[in-house]
Amino acid sequence: MNRLRTIHADAVLAFGPFHYYVQRRLILHGERPLRVGSRALEILHLLLEHAGSVVSKKTILARVWPTTVVEEINLRVHIAALRRVLADGKGGQRYIANIPQRGYSFVADVKLSEAAEAAPAGPSGGALHNLPGRLSPIIGRDAIVDELVRKMPARRLLTLVGPGGMGKTTVALRVAELVLPHYQDGVYFIDLSGLADPALVAAKVASTLGLALPGEGAWCGLDRYLLDRHLLLVLDNCEHLIESCAALVEGLLMRAPRVAILATSREPLLTEGECVQRLAALSIPTPLSTTEVALACSAVRLFVARVAAYRPGFVLREQDVAVVTAICRRLDGMPLALELAAAQVEVLGLRGLLGQLEHCLQLLIHGRRTAAPRHQSLRALLDWSYALLSPLEQTVLQRLAVFKVALSLDKAASFIACKQVDEAQVFEAITQLVAKSWLSVALIDSVVHYRLLNTSRAYALEKLGASDEYRQIQQRYARHRNMRVIQGHKLP
Ligand SMILES: Nc1ncnc2c1ncn2[C@@H]1O[C@H](COP(=O)(O)OP(=O)(O)O)[C@@H](O)[C@H]1O
Ligand SMILES: [Mg+2]
Repeated sequence: MNRLRTIHADAVLAFGPFHYYVQRRLILHGERPLRVGSRALEILHLLLEHAGSVVSKKTILARVWPTTVVEEINLRVHIAALRRVLADGKGGQRYIANIPQRGYSFVADVKLSEAAEAAPAGPSGGALHNLPGRLSPIIGRDAIVDELVRKMPARRLLTLVGPGGMGKTTVALRVAELVLPHYQDGVYFIDLSGLADPALVAAKVASTLGLALPGEGAWCGLDRYLLDRHLLLVLDNCEHLIESCAALVEGLLMRAPRVAILATSREPLLTEGECVQRLAALSIPTPLSTTEVALACSAVRLFVARVAAYRPGFVLREQDVAVVTAICRRLDGMPLALELAAAQVEVLGLRGLLGQLEHCLQLLIHGRRTAAPRHQSLRALLDWSYALLSPLEQTVLQRLAVFKVALSLDKAASFIACKQVDEAQVFEAITQLVAKSWLSVALIDSVVHYRLLNTSRAYALEKLGASDEYRQIQQRYARHRNMRVIQGHKLP
């Protein structure tokens, strides 16, 4: 057959009982998506690209582990996993053959069809989804994707919550692709980020479904349309329209019993039956890790992969592990920040980058031109989220930012409270900042502590610096430190 590389990205390849959706990197067995890890999928993709010929182990290793040297045993483990999920060898059907001394070959018949022909048709004859394809592999999210795929069919409302740039949309789209066959009437992705008017959420959903329903009256028509449909709506970026989204979701779940919703937001919708899943950062190595351990951490893999995109041939050298670890830590394992920082390595080098990250916001201003405006720079993303905070929450955030370390609620409240803001208000504001993913919660010696991401902290400090109370808060912080020195405590 033709090489996949010369085939349209929308292609679907059929082999045995399987269909492989090339752009979406999705394999269906009949209607059921196969769970295949990202590396195994990359190997299968490469073998399919060269179906019928032999691909050397060296080529596979270079393609699947471009930034590191790995043992051949890793390749064998992934090939074995692939064979297992494809039931290779059962009933005499072979897919992947080991050609001794030479490599591997995809040996089954592969037929090619275009997605437009192959995708099942919806009630109106259109495709049953509008999910965009992904151009680069997803790094380090297999476990959470797996968990959500398992949960989704039994849930009607799942909200993926986390700070901007943490990878919510990426994970939600992957989950949506994998559960697509479960929903008879399809899966629809609704990007709310560009929508400013809360009254138009229903109209936006309707127009994505191809319904021409007028602005604020869209509710009723949408209800009627969805009444007996079995579909999944992915509501992406709910935070700035949170009340309107919550009302829409609650109404739909009540009146359209077979509709399910996967939402992404900085804060939960707080509607009945909501299952909230917080999205953690990518994993970061501990200081003094070996190259191998560092590369087992997804933050490092993402950073290295993005640097390699600008500097072909870039690999993580042993002498750079500590610097890359520090960069990943400074950026809290946040994918967007790591991507933006990686773009600077060509100019600054790794050590220069780490030095400059002290002024991280100034540095992370060069995003991809094609990204949504909020994602073109971290600052734009933080500006957008900051504007959604109440004035009190903004004040509390700025005051908290003077602390480098995690703080307990009591300490935070006693530092932040003043004549105008009492402790109860501080508690409430901190609760809101946690809900809105500005603060993360950790248990230290069984006491709940609150911490800002480094990037958010730098941003909040900048806001404090520009505010009238900058001097006053600095003085209060200096007094607080002095008191702790006098009491013989370790300084924060
Ligand atoms: N696990 C991942 N692997 C590779 N790239 C990722 C991953 N998670 C996020 N990204 C990239 O990081 C950026 C921000 O991710 P996104 O999903 O848009 O975050 P959010 O929706 O939380 O704001 C995007 O460019 C996305 O492609
Ligand atoms: Mg998003």
